[in-house]
Amino acid sequence: MSAESQKQAVAEAAVAEVEADSVIGVGSGTTVNYFIDALADSGKKVEAAVAASEASAERLMTHGIEVVDANSVRELSLYVDGADEVNRHLQMIKGGGGALTREKIIAALSQRFLCIADESKRVTVLGDFPLPVEVIPMARSYVGRKLIEMGGRPDLRKDFITDNGNIILDVRHLDLSQPIARERELNGIAGVVTNGLFAVRPADELFVATDTGVQRFEAA
Ligand code: A5P
Repeated sequence: MSAESQKQAVAEAAVAEVEADSVIGVGSGTTVNYFIDALADSGKKVEAAVAASEASAERLMTHGIEVVDANSVRELSLYVDGADEVNRHLQMIKGGGGALTREKIIAALSQRFLCIADESKRVTVLGDFPLPVEVIPMARSYVGRKLIEMGGRPDLRKDFITDNGNIILDVRHLDLSQPIARERELNGIAGVVTNGLFAVRPADELFVATDTGVQRFEAA
């Protein structure tokens, strides 16, 4: 099964988890695009969605799904999103598409975070995928030096500004073996908006598509 067919399969499985007439959180990325399309095709009506990126918001609206501001909801029953890497504790690296800050806000607002992914995203240890760090532009050099002191190798994501008007540093070689501590440490650097480690608030469930069907995991 190709990666694209795997994404389609987990997206369809996630649609079955959506409660009709609920307000849901919708992430960002190619797997989520399949989810948005599958939700629309299913005919299941949601009350509205909170979107993690302008691109997702646009896609939802194109399908006639109402998009509301995160400030208008107290909590979300379900959040569906992809990941760049996910371990057996359902801790993730996210932000390959640059939407990490809004994704983290939606994750915090959600009772249930369902991660949908193709098989290639499952890892034993997080860190092969460069860790995205969203940074206020005036702090670029300062944060870069701090990341180097921590053992990382930051690269400025070229020609990219987040939906929040900030830059992304993609960091290689950081030791991510203690993801919760690392996530907090990185967020403590002045000028860091957030980082792409989702360990303090991991996913609650993971749907992964394999050649033998969609497998469902809870945190180990
Ligand atoms: C977006 O910022 C990311 O967190 C995505 O969730 C992640 O990059 C997965 O994207 P794909 O589904 O395109 O692999």
